[in-house]
Amino acid sequence: MRSIVYGDNADVLLSLPKHFARLMYIDPPFNTGRAQRRDRMRVVASESEGTRAGFGGRRYDVERVESSRYEDQFDDFEAFLMPRIELARRCLTPDASVFVHLDYREVHYIKVALDRILGRHCFMNEIVWSYDYGGRPKNRWPCKHDTILWYALDPSNYVFNYDEIDRIPYMAPGLVTPEKAARGKTPTDVWWHTIVPTNSREKTGYPTQKPLGILRRIVRVHSRPNDVVLDFFAGSGTTGEAAAREGRGFVLVDHHQGAVQTAARRLAPYTPMCVGFDPMI
Ligand SMILES: C[S@@+](CC[C@H](N)C(=O)[O-])C[C@H]1O[C@@H](n2cnc3c(N)ncnc32)[C@H](O)[C@@H]1O
Repeated sequence: MRSIVYGDNADVLLSLPKHFARLMYIDPPFNTGRAQRRDRMRVVASESEGTRAGFGGRRYDVERVESSRYEDQFDDFEAFLMPRIELARRCLTPDASVFVHLDYREVHYIKVALDRILGRHCFMNEIVWSYDYGGRPKNRWPCKHDTILWYALDPSNYVFNYDEIDRIPYMAPGLVTPEKAARGKTPTDVWWHTIVPTNSREKTGYPTQKPLGILRRIVRVHSRPNDVVLDFFAGSGTTGEAAAREGRGFVLVDHHQGAVQTAARRLAPYTPMCVGFDPMI
């Protein structure tokens, strides 16, 4: 399964099959600078002529429940994101992992909201991706990390391929045996990794592109060969490339034409099926 789908993920997620993905990774936009419209969805199974086709011939109606704009931007972000994550759950296998990539502005609110819908006991790790790039303000510590929350839908049954973890150099190799120093150590929950270098072959030009190295580590450790990885805020398709390179399938969704075109170009060698757009445009 290798698909890139053009459309609002709130709509697309409903049309996807159940239980096809063992790994979900999302990197939603943060949009913290401006108020967003509150956008809640209620999904209602329809006995007759629902407006949307679901898997197995079932029909659904999606009711958008809009209320006034909220001054509190954190409320807005949560109201935008959480219904979409709830919709995505039906696409996941019972032993799936959920990765949600955020920054310091939203992560604490979304952590609490995720605990509420997935279960606090399902929270596995808070991964800090630390990088060093860009300006350094002189009135506070420069913010140079993102946070990736990992939940296992079933904490007694999930994929964690320990032997697939890449090794990194010891900080003080002189303190361990030469054999250990040569082998390196496994990373902790703090991952040092550069942003996508400006002149690298990896760079697509899509503004919020995440590094392939981060995604390949997640895919390798948290899914098995031939599994399918779901990313419904796909952007330039980094998750798709990581999945394909690791021998996994992918389903990517984005509502921005530039994003799906970039992803389609990037993933062309892996012959994805493009749904809802013409990749030649
Ligand atoms: C931060 S970017 C993802 C970047 C991606 N991880 C990469 O490495 O290129 C977030 C993406 O979510 C998409 N997006 C935002 N709201 C969406 C929605 N409701 N449905 C589908 N895609 C959406 C945006 O178009 C944007 O491409």
